[in-house]
Amino acid sequence: MTSIVLYCRPGFEKECGAEIQEKAAWNEMYGYLELKKNQGLVFFHLQVSEHGEALLKKLPLKRLIFTRQWFVTLTEKIDLPDYNRVEAIVESLGNEWQYDDLRMEMPDTNDGKELSKFCRKLAVPLRQGLRKAKILTNKKTDFKAEEGGAVLHALFLSGQEVILGFSLADNSSPHVMGIPRLKFPSQAPSRSTLKLDEAFLYFIPREEWDTRLTSGMNAVDLGSAPGGWTYQLVRRGMMVTAIDNGPMAESLMETGQVKHKMMDGFKYLPMKKNVYWLVCDMIEKPQKVAKLMSEWLLDGHCKEAMFNLKLPMKGRYQQVNEDLQTIKDAFAKHQVKYELYAKHLYYDREEVTVHARLI
Ligand SMILES: C[S@@+](CC[C@H](N)C(=O)[O-])C[C@H]1O[C@@H](n2cnc3c(N)ncnc32)[C@H](O)[C@@H]1O
Repeated sequence: MTSIVLYCRPGFEKECGAEIQEKAAWNEMYGYLELKKNQGLVFFHLQVSEHGEALLKKLPLKRLIFTRQWFVTLTEKIDLPDYNRVEAIVESLGNEWQYDDLRMEMPDTNDGKELSKFCRKLAVPLRQGLRKAKILTNKKTDFKAEEGGAVLHALFLSGQEVILGFSLADNSSPHVMGIPRLKFPSQAPSRSTLKLDEAFLYFIPREEWDTRLTSGMNAVDLGSAPGGWTYQLVRRGMMVTAIDNGPMAESLMETGQVKHKMMDGFKYLPMKKNVYWLVCDMIEKPQKVAKLMSEWLLDGHCKEAMFNLKLPMKGRYQQVNEDLQTIKDAFAKHQVKYELYAKHLYYDREEVTVHARLI
């Protein structure tokens, strides 16, 4: 049986499963779900084997909100011997296909963290073994995802059990398990800073940073205190209007790049239409935030918006779809073309991050 394995934040398996099942059905591909509760793992067992690769080709990973990474299985669960694990893996792959890269993965749990030490040790001999068998190509050092090709995934459920599979390089995350490991900048006033850092990395292609994320731009940060998001804008050389009744970090105010206005983020509007970025991390009703963001974009008060939508305790997938629909309806009413993507990013918790712009 062919399955698609999906990685998500532990605790969000239900949302991740509901989403893949729904979006696969839109493509007339069906299967049943096996959720690994609180392990951040979902198995979507397909009725038709060929649908595994077909779905990976058809459905952009960027369109899945709750999935960080995915792959199609090549094998069922393999029981590994205590010795000669490399040989056992190489043998089970055969020599029909070649892969450009290898991802050693494990459940995103405390046990999984223990497993990662084991995986790090095994990675070197496994790579060597796979290269020798010509299963892994030698491209690794200059490997570029955009050039296509396939990536081999080895998901270790324990030191004795592995599932092998592959993803398409141009439609999968470049990070192991879809998790970018970002360094917390010591000068940033809050850990939230990593959310906006990850959001820019994820949503804005690096080759467009010079035009879309660059110094001299004006930005507005709604719900800015103490300034973790503002920090990300300031460090990219932008001039920021920070809106929050709470205090902003002194270190940010001293840069001279920040104007702080103590007021309601739902009431503030810029005097001039020279704002490029609107970012918003207000803890408010997501429907209200969604409406506000679409109004800013439609009225030309900003060019691009990056914002969080808080998730409810229950019905999270349904709620986020409704919030996004509010934005889509507003854009459709004005007959504008737009880009709208949402993702439950690694540094997000009970919220998803959304990027929107008119094109
Ligand atoms: C999660 S914190 C923001 C953290 C900030 N992004 C950072 O990185 O430091 C949410 C903030 O939204 C502010 N907030 C909530 N509702 C607001 C409103 N209606 N207008 C302005 N600020 C609001 C709160 O005062 C709080 O400081």
